[in-house]
Amino acid sequence: MLDARCSILVTCKANQDGYLSDDSQDWKLPPLLRFAKPLDLLRKKQRGKQNGGGWLLFRMAQVVITIDGPAGSGKSTAARLLAKRLGASFLDTGAMYRAVTLAAMEAGVDMNDEKQLMEVLDKRKFGFRSEGDVMPAFIDGKDVTEKIRSPQVTANARYIASRPGLRERLVRMQRDFASNQKIIVTEGRDQGTVAFADADVKFFLTADLKERARRRHIELKEKGISEDINKIEGDIRSRDESDEKRKVGPLKAASDAIVIDTTKLNIEQVVGKLLKIVKQRCLKKG
Ligand code: DC
Repeated sequence: MLDARCSILVTCKANQDGYLSDDSQDWKLPPLLRFAKPLDLLRKKQRGKQNGGGWLLFRMAQVVITIDGPAGSGKSTAARLLAKRLGASFLDTGAMYRAVTLAAMEAGVDMNDEKQLMEVLDKRKFGFRSEGDVMPAFIDGKDVTEKIRSPQVTANARYIASRPGLRERLVRMQRDFASNQKIIVTEGRDQGTVAFADADVKFFLTADLKERARRRHIELKEKGISEDINKIEGDIRSRDESDEKRKVGPLKAASDAIVIDTTKLNIEQVVGKLLKIVKQRCLKKG
């Protein structure tokens, strides 16, 4: 849990054992901090005033949790809920690829020309806000959170995702975004392998293709869009292929990722598993 990447000093009320006292919940600390142990050295310096109780100086490093996986594996919903439960920020890296795709479509550039795509990235101002478990997206100050979810953007995003230069820039944006957060849950395709290869906890979610198509079908239906399930399945298969086969940042599990098959699990069960592992890992390292 503790490393040199981004240490934050936090003062907290301690109980007699030197851990956070029960009323720490009132302190609006991210829940994960409540599981953290203070550094021994700092603890000794701060203890002793009131029979072991008193104030602690916490050194809390930035915690990065990555969730990668294919479309429909449940990673987005799981990442959002996990972030909410941990009081962490949430980063949807797919939204970054989508926002650049939308800007390129609006500019009418050739989707196969990396130079033109780079120019779009340079000219337009992309903004992503951390608002708890949601991440509004902006282009030149205009809210495009909904617009980037259109089927046309979904279909064209692969052009952006397959360009090494663009990926490099977007990975940089992802790291910048994360460096401003205390605890972050980030989801995408290459978060555990490229963007945050030294993340504290890495997950890779999978699910059967048919189940993923079924989930997407329900999701679209809820939005009032009726689409043939076989077409959805075909689209997902082709997105998988393009995600897995690209040379840079392909979709794959990091060697140290925990792989979870969500085919037979509901979202609560998935989040329950993730939460349990995060707490175990962070406590162990503390
Ligand atoms: O997860 P999503 O459907 O919102 O992703 C949109 C596109 O961006 C999809 O084509 C995969 C790509 N992507 C990527 O290549 N790397 C990421 N880290 C996230 C998304």
